[in-house]
Amino acid sequence: MVEQRTLARSLIPELDRGDEQSLAAQIASFYREAIQGGRMRAGDRLPAIRQVAEGLSVTRATVQEAYRQLGISELVEGVVGRGTTVLPGKLAAGATAADAELLSAYASAALRQSQQFVGAPPLPRGRTQVANFAELSPDAARFPVAELRRAMDFVLGSRGAELLGYAHSPAGLPELLLQLAQWDPMRPLPDDILITSGGQQALDLVLRTLCAPGDAVVLTNPSYHQMHGLLKAHGLRSIPVPMDHRGLDLVALRAAMAAPDVRLVYLMPTFHNPTGYSLDEQQRRAAMNVIVATNVPVLEDEYQILLRCRGEQPPSLRQLDPRGLTLAAFTFSKGLFPGLRMGWVTGAPKLLRPMSAVKRYMDLETSPLLQAALVEFVASGAMHIYLDELRAELRLRHATLQQHLRVRLPSGCTLTDPEGGYLCWLELPEAGLGDRLAELAAERGVRVVPGRMFDSQGKPSRGVRLSLSRANPDEIRAGAEVLAECCQLLLGAEVVSNARVFV
Ligand SMILES: Cc1ncc(COP(=O)(O)O)c(C=O)c1O
Repeated sequence: MVEQRTLARSLIPELDRGDEQSLAAQIASFYREAIQGGRMRAGDRLPAIRQVAEGLSVTRATVQEAYRQLGISELVEGVVGRGTTVLPGKLAAGATAADAELLSAYASAALRQSQQFVGAPPLPRGRTQVANFAELSPDAARFPVAELRRAMDFVLGSRGAELLGYAHSPAGLPELLLQLAQWDPMRPLPDDILITSGGQQALDLVLRTLCAPGDAVVLTNPSYHQMHGLLKAHGLRSIPVPMDHRGLDLVALRAAMAAPDVRLVYLMPTFHNPTGYSLDEQQRRAAMNVIVATNVPVLEDEYQILLRCRGEQPPSLRQLDPRGLTLAAFTFSKGLFPGLRMGWVTGAPKLLRPMSAVKRYMDLETSPLLQAALVEFVASGAMHIYLDELRAELRLRHATLQQHLRVRLPSGCTLTDPEGGYLCWLELPEAGLGDRLAELAAERGVRVVPGRMFDSQGKPSRGVRLSLSRANPDEIRAGAEVLAECCQLLLGAEVVSNARVFV
């Protein structure tokens, strides 16, 4: 250990003052690589801030910022009087130190994240389920299996041999690109679209294409939990910006955009996960005014856009970006079926071409057979029939929840009333009450996801996420009663009043 500490003290980075990366980011990258590459080990002390600052002729604040970034990545810990020491790499459950040495930093982080996500508290043994508001995944009982089978039979019958080979179209089958272009108000050209394996691959591809370990990504808080995990796996720092029914907190957004090393803004402007909020046109314009003053790209995740039940779709962030630096990610997973694993990204070719090159190394191309079957399924009219019925059902489910939950909630609670998508957000007046609500509701047979799962730092939350993808109107009615009762218990309230509604 003494030897390692001496070694650590002699590890002073070299800086490239002409590099695009800030000096703090270069210092952080240097120590990150030293730790992840095994040159520095758990318990080793990083050189004193003063020593690095003097050695590199930079301010102490620069070194402090670098050490802070390493702290956020949970690689080091600063203790007053003891300096900054390397933390033991957290082992994933069941892994030994020898196993961990086999894994890349990316795999270790991904494994850890996948084991940390807990989701909705389970129902106690023997407790009958009243309502499942936890899953965000379409109801399999509604899937038009026969229609998809007909589409699959048709394409296999007419061009099966061709579709079972490589299509040599890494961006996607031309007929699917054309079909998708027709739905988009920006009327993109085929070169402006890339087919992906679901929305999740699109998010990963964008990070791989635009960000490097140590960079920062601006996103809303709360936000999609898999994005939090993905950022950590890629060694990226998140800068959270609050968002509510008034839109993004513009002061926080401005401050976030001014931080060094911001490489991406990740937003869900429509039917946000977990809150269900949508930004209206004015809120979109206000946010984009702040962002377009920088050269930071935007990833607009439109994962539920096919599920609008009422109201007009405002212009996309991509439409509001004169720089051409917004990428919009879409998926068929929520509107149709997640088992197809089909999504797409639209954006400027200067961003999509490198993304396509990155994707090629991941999977060469997305399944030509499934792409062709999807084109046929859409062309036959089956998709529109299915979607119309699904939206009508979703409209009924939202109305049922509003009617049976909102009027029973104690004052101080809020419930979003989105114009589509599966999600709503129920919020109580104090941090931590959302998490307690999830526990209490589970004891009474209702599953909801506690808001802290969506917090960038896993902090106690005021809210819970309600998904209407699995609960039918009867279950929603019964579940709403339980949730209202739990809120009243938590707030010690007997008075029943109207909660405020936010779209
Ligand atoms: C916000 C958001 N984006 C993207 C996805 C990815 O979905 P898929 O990969 O199934 O298309 C999800 C899935 O739940 C999501 O909630």
